[in-house]
Amino acid sequence: MRDPMIDLRSDTVTKPTPEMLQAMVHAKVGDDVFQEDPTVIAFENKMAMLFGMEAGLFVPSGTMSNQLGLTILAGPGEEVLIDELGHVYNYETGAAAHLSSLQLRPLKGQRGILSPEVVEAAVRAKNDWDPWTTVLALENTTNKGGGACYTRTQLLELRELSQKKGLSLHLDGARIWNAISATGIEPQFFGSVADTLSVCFSKGLGAPVGSMLLTTRDGIRKARRFRKMWGGGMRQVGLLAAAADYAVEHHWPLLKEDHHRAQKFAKHLSTKKEILLDPDTVETNILIFEVNRDGGTGTSKTVDQVLRSYKEYGIEMVGFGGNTIRATFHFQIDDAMLDQLIQVTDIIFT
Ligand SMILES: Cc1ncc(COP(=O)(O)O)c(C=O)c1O
Repeated sequence: MRDPMIDLRSDTVTKPTPEMLQAMVHAKVGDDVFQEDPTVIAFENKMAMLFGMEAGLFVPSGTMSNQLGLTILAGPGEEVLIDELGHVYNYETGAAAHLSSLQLRPLKGQRGILSPEVVEAAVRAKNDWDPWTTVLALENTTNKGGGACYTRTQLLELRELSQKKGLSLHLDGARIWNAISATGIEPQFFGSVADTLSVCFSKGLGAPVGSMLLTTRDGIRKARRFRKMWGGGMRQVGLLAAAADYAVEHHWPLLKEDHHRAQKFAKHLSTKKEILLDPDTVETNILIFEVNRDGGTGTSKTVDQVLRSYKEYGIEMVGFGGNTIRATFHFQIDDAMLDQLIQVTDIIFT
C-alpha cells in the first residue's frame, strides 16, 4: 500500500506542479553573473520591497544564504550567538568555521527561541583574548524547535538588545512564510529587525531550488562576490527565479491549510497514551512528538518501530533524536491523506 505515499519527512520533498513548470518555461532569461537576467533582477527587487530591505541576492540554497549573511557581518576572531537547536549550528556542516573563520556559540532557548536574558548573559567583553561577540543569529520559524515562531515583542526586545550591545542580527527565515501566515506579522517588520535576512523558496513554498539573502545594497555587493567565490554564480537562472516567484504568489496562501492539518494531526496524536505531544506547541507545519512511552498500555514502541509501522502504510516521517519523531506538513498533503494518516495512527497506537 505505497500509493499514494504520504511523505512527511520534510516540506522540501514537494514536486513542481505543471503550472509552476509552465511559469519556468515562459521565463525571460539572461546571464545572471553579468546581472542580465530580467526575471532574477525583478524577483530580487520584488522580495527586497516585500521585506523592506534595500536589495536581494538569489542563491541556490538556504545554507548558502545563511553563510553569506554571516560572512558579510563577521570574520576571524569573532563569535556568533545562536540557539543550540539552530540550523546554522546543527546542519550546515560547520561551514561558518570553514568559510568565515567564525565561532558559533550555542545557547539554550525554548524550542529554538532565544530570550534577551540568555543572549545578554552570553555577550563577551572586548578584550584582546576574547572571541568578540559580533552577531546574533535567530531562526524563524524554528526547524528543530518544532516550527515555533517568535512574537513581535520578542523580536523587538532582541533587536534592542543587539543594538545596545553592538551586535548585528542575522535571521534565518527559511520558513518566514510560515511565521508570517501563523502570526500575521507583516514581512517588512522582519526586514526592520534583521541586518541580514535569509528566506527560502524550496521549503513549504514548494519551489525546486532557491533562497535569497536580503540586506543593504552594500551588503549584497559583498555577498555577490562571495557567492561567486563559493561557486554559486548562476547563468540563465531566471528559470528558477520564475518557479520561486510562482511559489510565493500561489503557494504561500496555502500554508495556513498546512498549519491547520498539522494541528489536527497533533490533536489526534495527543490522545494516544504512548505519545507525548502538546498540540498547543504546534504553531505551524512542523510537529515533533515523543514516542516509547508506556502510558499504562504495555504497548510502547521505539522510534524505529513506529517509523517502520507507518512506512508499511506508505507514510514516511523522520526520527529526530532520542525518542522523537518529526512530521512536516506541506501543500502536497491533502485532507484525504490526513484522514489516512489518522486512520493508520489508530492502527499503530491504542
Ligand atoms: C531553518 C533552516 N534554515 C536553513 C536551511 C537550509 O536550506 P538548504 O537545504 O536549502 O540549504 C534549512 C533546511 O531545511 C532549514 O530548515
